[in-house]
Amino acid sequence: MGTDVSSSPADAQSSPLRGFGIDVGGSGIKGCVVNLETGELDGERVRIPTPQPSTPDAVADVVAEIVNKFGWQGPVGVTLPCVLKRGTAMTAANVDKKWIDTDAAVLFADRLGRPHEEVVVLNDADAAGMAEMRFGIGANRPGVVVLLTFGTGIGSALFLNGQLVPNTEFGHLEVDGHDAEKRAAASVKDEKDLSWEEWSHRVSRYLEVLENLIWPDLIIAGGGVSKKAEKWLPLLKARTEVVAAALMNDAGIVGAAAAATHGISH
Ligand code: BGC
Repeated sequence: MGTDVSSSPADAQSSPLRGFGIDVGGSGIKGCVVNLETGELDGERVRIPTPQPSTPDAVADVVAEIVNKFGWQGPVGVTLPCVLKRGTAMTAANVDKKWIDTDAAVLFADRLGRPHEEVVVLNDADAAGMAEMRFGIGANRPGVVVLLTFGTGIGSALFLNGQLVPNTEFGHLEVDGHDAEKRAAASVKDEKDLSWEEWSHRVSRYLEVLENLIWPDLIIAGGGVSKKAEKWLPLLKARTEVVAAALMNDAGIVGAAAAATHGISH
């Protein structure tokens, strides 16, 4: 028997598949190495406050700083609160308007000194949804599943039998003459100092409009406020089963890492 204890092919097989994800939000930019077999963060995530104004150049600097802190060399997934078509931002709600028409994939790849195909950009809610469908509460849930993130705005991710339909923008449905997220985002609860009852009433009305349009089989409630799910989920009136997201704050990072490694699908 040999006594060599250095890494062997067997070790390589037992080390988990890893990816790298970055979640760009209105207040913080967070990134970490992700174990893509368990969906858990592999180490401590790094969080840097989002520069203000959150211009493409300023955000790209922070993205590069985070990747370099980890010395990560492989593919990188980055979320943005934007509709993204082939790497280019088409909208910019709750983030600097300069993002519109920016090829974010090229911007990040150039800043990281990587080939363009190693960087994937995707909508923040789509990333959170991909993580929930792969590793969280949506795993093995067939049919039409929609994840909603309640935060500064309302993000949405739509799945049919686990396959993502990218770039749905259900946070901007018109509800009673208003943009839905202006009425029912978690930030509105804080700004208007609404009680859980008052806010959940608004969310119920929003869900009613959404349910009548897409008839989902399951609604997953995500975003920071899902940490306090016991305070408001029981107050909701909805036809569809509504469950709290399981991955909480890290879903965007995990989904971005999965998308960069496996492509943008469940
Ligand atoms: C944006 C979405 C985004 C969501 C959550 C909305 O205002 O239009 O693209 O997913 O906020 O950040």
